[in-house]
Amino acid sequence: MRTGRGVLLAIIAALAAAPLPCAAMDDLANPGEADEGYRVESPDGRIDVEVGLSDSGQPQYTVSFDGAVVVEASPLGLYFASRIDLVSGMRIDRAERRSVDERWEQPWGERRVVLDRFNELTLSLSARGPDRRYRLRFRVYDDGLGFRYEVPEQNAYRSVTLTGETTTFRVSRDARAFSQPADAELRYEELYTESALGLLDRVSSPLALRLPSGVHLAIHEAALVNYPGFSLEFDPVNMLQTVLRPSSEGYRAKLEAPFATPWRTIQVADRAVGLINSSLILNLNEPNVLGDVSWIEPGKFVGIWWALHRGLWTWGGGERHGATTENAKRYIDFAAEHGFDGVLVEGWNRGWDGDWVSNAQFSFTEPYADFDLEAVARYARERGVRLVGHHETGGHMSYYAGQMEDAFDLYARHGVRQVKTGYVGPAGSLKRIDDNGEQHNEWRDSQFAVAHYQAVLEAAARRQISINTHEPVKDTGLRRTYPNWLTREGSRGQEFAVWGETPNPPEHEAMLAFTRMLGGPMDYTPGLFELEFEINGVPRRVQSTLAKQLALYVVLYSPVHMVPDLPENYLARPDAFQFIVDVPTDWEESIALAGEIGDYVVVARQERGGSDWYLGAITDEEPRRLSVPLDFLPEGRAYLAEIYADGEDAHWGSAPYAIDIDRGDGTELLTNEDTLELGLAAGGGAAVRFRPVPEADRP
Ligand code: NOJ
Ligand code: CA
Repeated sequence: MRTGRGVLLAIIAALAAAPLPCAAMDDLANPGEADEGYRVESPDGRIDVEVGLSDSGQPQYTVSFDGAVVVEASPLGLYFASRIDLVSGMRIDRAERRSVDERWEQPWGERRVVLDRFNELTLSLSARGPDRRYRLRFRVYDDGLGFRYEVPEQNAYRSVTLTGETTTFRVSRDARAFSQPADAELRYEELYTESALGLLDRVSSPLALRLPSGVHLAIHEAALVNYPGFSLEFDPVNMLQTVLRPSSEGYRAKLEAPFATPWRTIQVADRAVGLINSSLILNLNEPNVLGDVSWIEPGKFVGIWWALHRGLWTWGGGERHGATTENAKRYIDFAAEHGFDGVLVEGWNRGWDGDWVSNAQFSFTEPYADFDLEAVARYARERGVRLVGHHETGGHMSYYAGQMEDAFDLYARHGVRQVKTGYVGPAGSLKRIDDNGEQHNEWRDSQFAVAHYQAVLEAAARRQISINTHEPVKDTGLRRTYPNWLTREGSRGQEFAVWGETPNPPEHEAMLAFTRMLGGPMDYTPGLFELEFEINGVPRRVQSTLAKQLALYVVLYSPVHMVPDLPENYLARPDAFQFIVDVPTDWEESIALAGEIGDYVVVARQERGGSDWYLGAITDEEPRRLSVPLDFLPEGRAYLAEIYADGEDAHWGSAPYAIDIDRGDGTELLTNEDTLELGLAAGGGAAVRFRPVPEADRP
């Protein structure tokens, strides 16, 4: 199998060697003229990008949407350690264009068929002498644009040390920004907040913006491979300046030319939901490099997990050890009885006793004495369920890397198809041991960590194992290239109901849908059924109604969703539980229908390989009435709607369990000409399953 870097190199080499057949080259009337500008439009003509040079010969780009500027002339460039910067004094030697209009299929995903349609402009730039050359490639789609730097091999750029990028996004300082701080202790697990762009400090991406005109933008990156991730810093001139994550030794990246940076992306939409409906990030990633991926299985899993967080059982050994053979078999039985695909078992391996975060010395092959891995895995297979593996590293990347081949071999031998990995520890403290045996602390978006996450993915893929990463690097759409990167955390999940000082507020998921989720799937663990409990005598609340817990399975996309609560909590509410049993995790099509960032969102999805549609609607702390036109349903069919809605007096604080379940039997069938009226409580939601009723069965 080729590595990601190998693939990138091959692509760059191919592009350099042979311009594509549909490429067109612009004749330059005045090749040396500094203010020469080149334009490229989206296929629908609404987004217009102009690229040119400033007076100092620095490349810059401007973006307009429907004729109005949304990103003002923003400077670009790369800095290197040996003063061979690619910033100013440049000239444009050549412009090439091409257009693509294709479709490709996802092996699993929020939609099966993805439209990949764009116009591309590639400018070749050079500065005095032949030895400072690079290309700027812009791709403009109907839903946004991406651009990247491509540095070919040349004398001055063989092995280079990158010290920075001057990529900027000059958007209005009055834009409303929906952001998360970049360098905080909790990694990507801080809350998102809304503020004026001019008040931002340094934030991580995806960053969602609402301009004063009402146009929505989201800034992020795609295909983060062998490069550090960026955060975005406000400065009064450039507005948003990218800051590449440094390594513990100060540099940003060590690179071998030829190389390309990840795509810098700007999603553009007139409505907030346009950001969710965009496929820009996926389209800017390379196609699948794993070949036949029929072994990758979306689905739902239960697990020895929530009882650990709730403090009922322990990860470490002893009397209350959770990961025992007996407990695992009970969860397997529960999964088999309700048609769930997997059972996650955390705390099965040695290393959890004592302070496992500081020690971070786990064995990934030795089970605790009361856990018979072989017997559990066999029992699961016999019952048609798979054991879901767990590798918590405590953030010690090098220690884990030394064991992971053996660890994946062991799981592969036992028929394990999915492994959840974890990198708990404060931000900026991932452990790297260098060739001299010295330990360094790295960030999860450093070049080193980015490469580590990818190496794990490749090692797993060699055994047909898929990965669900907790405490990951941000998602930049690599699931297209490596479809075994099923999902990840990388934001505050529901576990914050027990951890940390601030629980997730009711607006949290309506924020995530328009920010974190633009990167890709999240293992949020929706579906908590016990919403009030105590941890060490302290009362805790999940700030959600029961109906909203159901809606989250539809609203927050992930090809594997957990069914996290204790089995007895589901069995106590079988009517509501039925929705979790029914809801699929793999989709033919998905459409975000309505919503505003941090306020509410309504999403409809069609089951992959079936004709049922599902709908999820959630709100923040404000109760809302929503009229949802059902025009997304296919014409000429009648549907029975099973509706799980907040009860009349429902409220996340005072009546979280009040739910009205209407199975649709007694009510009229619905068609795509109808409108569904939904009442959402404070912190509430609604979940709906639409089942087509054949003509013959209609009353
Ligand atoms: C943090 C993860 O987010 C959580 O899901 C897991 O249970 C613990 N780490 C232990 O690995
Ligand atoms: Ca976590």
